Amino acid sequence: MKTMYWKDNELHLLDQTKLPDEVVYMQCKTYMDVIDAIKTMKVRGAPAIGVAAAFGMALAELAGEKMEKAADEIKSARPTAVNLFWAVDRVLQAKETGSGSALDEALKMYDEDVETNRAIGKNGAAVIDDGDTVLTHCNAGALACVDYGTALGVIRAARDEGKKINVICDETRPLGQGARLSVFEMQQEKIPVKLIVDSAAGHMMQKGMVQKIVIGADRVAKGGVANKIGSLMVALAAKRFGVPFYVAAPKSTFDEENSIYDVKIEERDPDEVLHFGKCRIAPEGTEVENPAFDIVPSDLIAGIITEEGILEPF
Ligand code: MRU
Repeated sequence: MKTMYWKDNELHLLDQTKLPDEVVYMQCKTYMDVIDAIKTMKVRGAPAIGVAAAFGMALAELAGEKMEKAADEIKSARPTAVNLFWAVDRVLQAKETGSGSALDEALKMYDEDVETNRAIGKNGAAVIDDGDTVLTHCNAGALACVDYGTALGVIRAARDEGKKINVICDETRPLGQGARLSVFEMQQEKIPVKLIVDSAAGHMMQKGMVQKIVIGADRVAKGGVANKIGSLMVALAAKRFGVPFYVAAPKSTFDEENSIYDVKIEERDPDEVLHFGKCRIAPEGTEVENPAFDIVPSDLIAGIITEEGILEPF
């Protein structure tokens, strides 16, 4: 199931806020529609955000908009995933050097995404043993990319090599990407999967019920990795209980210039925390902190699985 496709000069996006109950594609006719879809997380996950942003640039070009202005506005949709900035800059550069239109470049990135993820999967499968139970956090699957996925791509590839794999998905509060999206993907693939609440991860490791952890990343920078809130607690527990903790990410998620501690961590709407689905779970007037990501320091990471091989965190 692809998260997006381009047809009749429109971007069709799988609306992930409706999953797993409804599989519905929405149309983006303008780059502003793409910005809205990224902000409201109809499309989410670092690689998917990047490719959607490139198609946003294509929509701006087709409408004769000012490209620099569209670029700045698209880049302001979400702050943490570096793929958004990478994709927009790559489109601008392709236009500057005359190597192609924004649409040509977006379509190239669309195809590359799947190839890259397959290479990540193949490289990562080497660290997964037959019979492993692999814990993952959030959704770094096909739904976070164009297709196939990074962390879940590693699991797919290991299974395709004939290994028997069990998967544990953290629920991933507040928006439930683990429960709604990763469990859904694993069920579609017929890979055995169990759902746990986020706070059960440490217990499962202490009981010896997890052999590997593989998560995705929104940014890999000097000193560590930014990923969905809760990744840090998983990594700390993994260190304590000796469970290898891997990050699977394409090179487009690397930001080699900056310290991970200088990266802006997105703060999202308090209502996401105050509600479980549509149901309010705290008293009116409750104050909230809602950081969407946290930072896993390099010393907690066993390796970063990329399309170029397994790299040391830097
Ligand atoms: O807020 P989200 O759902 O966009 O966060 C997604 C994640 O944290 C993923 O793990 C990350 O983007 C990697 S996706 C291959």
